Amino acid sequence: MRILGVNAVFHDPAAALVVDGRTVAAAEEERFSRRKHGKEAVPFSAWELPVQSMRWCLEHAGLRPADLDAVTYSYDPSLADPEGPGQDRGWERLRLFYVERAPYFLATALPGLDPAKVSYVPHHVAHAASAGLAAPPEAGGGECAVFVADGRGESTSHLAGVYTGGQLEVLARQPLPESLGLVYEELTEHVGFHRSSDEYKVMALASYGEPTMLDRIREHVRYEGDGLLRASGVDWKSLAAPCPPGQEPSKEHADLAASVQTAMEEALLGVLGWLHRRTGRAHLTMAGGVALNCVANSRIVREGPFEHVWVQPASGDAGTALGGALHLASLVEDGVAPMPGADLGRSWDEDDLWELLREADVEFERPEDLADTVARALNDNALVAWFQGASEYGPRALGHRSLLANPAYPDNLERLNRVKGRERFRPVAPMVSERRAAEIFSGGPLPSPYMLFVHDVHPAWRERVPAVVHVDGTARVQTVSAEDDPLTARLLDRFEEHSGTPVLVNTSLNTAGRPMVDSPRDALECFGSAPVDLLALGPFIVRRHSRQGALR
Ligand SMILES: [Fe+2]
Repeated sequence: MRILGVNAVFHDPAAALVVDGRTVAAAEEERFSRRKHGKEAVPFSAWELPVQSMRWCLEHAGLRPADLDAVTYSYDPSLADPEGPGQDRGWERLRLFYVERAPYFLATALPGLDPAKVSYVPHHVAHAASAGLAAPPEAGGGECAVFVADGRGESTSHLAGVYTGGQLEVLARQPLPESLGLVYEELTEHVGFHRSSDEYKVMALASYGEPTMLDRIREHVRYEGDGLLRASGVDWKSLAAPCPPGQEPSKEHADLAASVQTAMEEALLGVLGWLHRRTGRAHLTMAGGVALNCVANSRIVREGPFEHVWVQPASGDAGTALGGALHLASLVEDGVAPMPGADLGRSWDEDDLWELLREADVEFERPEDLADTVARALNDNALVAWFQGASEYGPRALGHRSLLANPAYPDNLERLNRVKGRERFRPVAPMVSERRAAEIFSGGPLPSPYMLFVHDVHPAWRERVPAVVHVDGTARVQTVSAEDDPLTARLLDRFEEHSGTPVLVNTSLNTAGRPMVDSPRDALECFGSAPVDLLALGPFIVRRHSRQGALR
């Protein structure tokens, strides 16, 4: 059965294709449209569909719209109550109006599609499937507890349940307006960032603060029992004056962020303790925007009752495209295969890349040993744009569309933050060879291929990799195995031979305010506009000949 999954209702529009229970392709619309998060999460944008990513998924598999057996839309309008608590009153009906007509919009965008083939999957069920069904068997895929938390779905904000034999049983649903995700969004806005987008910045800010307002936050954010929470009604202005957008948050804002972060972690531990008692499962899988909070994820691993925790790398709403399709597949197919990795997007072959470089009329070379050439440049402290294979599904660059640097130089944090127009307090993350990870990082699950947990950096290593150590001595690690990504694993090995360090700085390849690079043209545009020393575009290398005489 050929199922196209579509996420379009709020933001992070995306498409995924599942054929006979196997994930064939998945991509976010922002990578095509070059508009970060695809669109604003407002009711009057609910008609917009991920047209380019849907079409690409079909093209990639050689399918026409008429060949599809089903299309899933990850929001079920029959579950929404436009007059209910926590709804965008006055506008919610418009959202529903659009969602109810989505089958016809889809048939217009995909000529030949029968609108009757479109079915709605409840938003949190789609998130749940993106975790509980996409996880590999060793992480409990199909046989695990599952927890989803985000800002909101139709009329709820979290789901706790269990997968048995690949089928979901829901054990608790959190009714709005209580919502951990919405509390965190309100905080994000209050400390001067863009809500529903910049929550990860607030998580980084929290590590600069002390939870001095924890008692007052706990009055509004806490575990209540039976898998349900209190999470609403914080009077932000009474805690700290709002931070105007564009201004650097103060210590007081960092303390507020630390207080909310801690209260949220406590609430999560409460509900997950209950979920463990109800299910008795060793494995927990998670998705939803809250599951992108890698600081909370690590605390859940350290202090929670589950032996193993797996988080969907596309835990934001983009992941519901895949989850919706997997959920429907689980109802009609014999079995559903786990996702093969996060590299589910577009890729280009050598001929295409050669053609593009010729067309761009830039000097390029094809080194005999790409990994060694790039490793030498990194050892000489070059900034490297690393464009390899298929693009990532989800917000993290995992060695396919990455900006790499040498972690031994503390200034590289600022150098990267300048390229990317990021705030000074934001950390960058390490990529490490899987076989060496345990010597350097602890306190989080290893291997950690999707960069969804924070780890403690061993004190002996902190001075050797200063660029990737956050103010609190932690790092958000990505482990790379030779089995999953032989080329990047070899790059790490060669870099270790030259430098003695099996770690590289890895951040997403994009400039300020832009989505991650997806196509080779995006990569060339990024390289041309930012002080990056070397672009590794598939097997080819483009070097910057700067006026200062770099490449050093
Ligand atoms: Fe969501």
